[in-house]
Amino acid sequence: MRVLATLGTLACVLALTLPALSVVSAAPGDEAKSLAAFETVAKVLNHPRCMNCHTTVAWPTQGDDRHRHTLNVARGTDDRGAAGLRCTTCHKDKNVANIPGAKDWHMASLAQGWTDLPPAALCRAVTDPTKNGNRTGAKIIEHLEADRLVLWAWTPGGKRTAPPVAHKDFLAAAQTWITTGAHCPKP
Ligand code: HEC
Ligand code: HEC
Repeated sequence: MRVLATLGTLACVLALTLPALSVVSAAPGDEAKSLAAFETVAKVLNHPRCMNCHTTVAWPTQGDDRHRHTLNVARGTDDRGAAGLRCTTCHKDKNVANIPGAKDWHMASLAQGWTDLPPAALCRAVTDPTKNGNRTGAKIIEHLEADRLVLWAWTPGGKRTAPPVAHKDFLAAAQTWITTGAHCPKP
């Protein structure tokens, strides 16, 4: 008993202190559960509403076919547009007619670009603290739950489609994925 309790404490301490997402996996079968949950999570990450801002090129993309943003819009040096053509010149705090909007509209950094990454690489990018804005598992969940740019995807305005999974189901899948060890598919 005593040994088990000590191990349990150790596991908690490890889970809390390790910089990466090394959650100690307890029950057998957790890995399969984690991988299954990630499949649901990836359906959203791969959706154009998310991908259009998480590109691996020097510009955001638009539409379900992820074509290059019109008017030569570029990410610029701070992911908020070139000097003369800032994202917020056009994108306001909320959707206005056909122009999507949310406070401080800008694209994710190049390190946070996911375009066409296979599932294994996508999973590793999202869980790598050196790429994901130094986020631990709990911080990733927090972001997916409440970030205004994430939430925008489910109220995208115009004729845009929302991701194929409801936000609450996406969040539940992300929670399962992370609490069961944030396992990534094999490359
Ligand atoms: C309008 C642009 C925009 C849209 C749309 C958008 N994001 Fe992001 N995303 C960002 C920016 C900017 C950051 C960096 C913010 C930060 O680190 O605080 C970010 C960071 C993230 C991060 C943490 C960094 C990382 O690489 O893991 C996750 C996870 C994320 N977004 C998920 C999503 C998901 C899921 C969607 C769609 C449901 C989405 N985003 C839609 C702009 C966007
Ligand atoms: C000159 C005005 C203008 C500027 C500047 C601008 N945008 Fe846009 N953006 C638009 C308009 C208009 C649309 C809607 C186009 C459509 O859906 O047909 C749009 C659509 C988008 C979409 C597509 C949403 C989707 O999923 O289809 C994203 C993402 C986006 N902009 C990101 C950005 C980012 C990031 C910046 C700054 C780097 C930026 N835009 C700068 C006018 C602008």
